[in-house]
Amino acid sequence: MELDELGQALSQCRSCPLRQDALGPVGWFGNPQSPIVFVGEGPGGVEDEYGCPLIGPSGQLLDKALWAAKMTRDRVLTTNVIKCRPKGNRTPDVAEADFCAKQWLDRELAIIQPKVIVALGGVAMHYLGNKDMRITRDRGQWFRTEQGFDCLATYHPAYLLRLYGRDLVKAKWDVFYDLEAARKRAEELAPGYQFMSEAKVDLFKLYQKRR
Ligand code: URA
Repeated sequence: MELDELGQALSQCRSCPLRQDALGPVGWFGNPQSPIVFVGEGPGGVEDEYGCPLIGPSGQLLDKALWAAKMTRDRVLTTNVIKCRPKGNRTPDVAEADFCAKQWLDRELAIIQPKVIVALGGVAMHYLGNKDMRITRDRGQWFRTEQGFDCLATYHPAYLLRLYGRDLVKAKWDVFYDLEAARKRAEELAPGYQFMSEAKVDLFKLYQKRR
């Protein structure tokens, strides 16, 4: 199955109750040939409205961090563990995350076959790694996913948006070094791939509100 076909199937998904409170499932954005894939938690309000992953405040911050680490959104691929926004933006529980990701994220990754995955935050790290991992302790460390992909976790941008002062500065540098390490690893494994376009992508020019 191709990624487009999987996207079509995803748009019809009604297999769990999360769909009832969302405008619709949110898939992935970016280049399916990318050797690097970023996996977030799940759509928030802006993502649900536009049908695009990581387009809201977290996504805007991610774009800045990617730019600093010499990557742009059109050249990488961004996606989420869960595809429908939980009501009130609550964190999905383990069962919800597992149920959704087994159906969708695992199949995306099987098609894309990325060289490197970056887990953004605890939910993605727990799904791709294991439930005993802790983001503050284990970020920046390489591990192998059950599907056999090399993966590194870093802080979720929403976490950075809640920090200030010295903690924020430190966390930003941690994220920068994690993203740089991931890009370098992907570069080694996919020599010649362009991780960056000349300009940042304005996702709001590409997506319209879906209601
Ligand atoms: N947070 C995520 O993890 N993913 C999104 O798509 C938006 C916010």
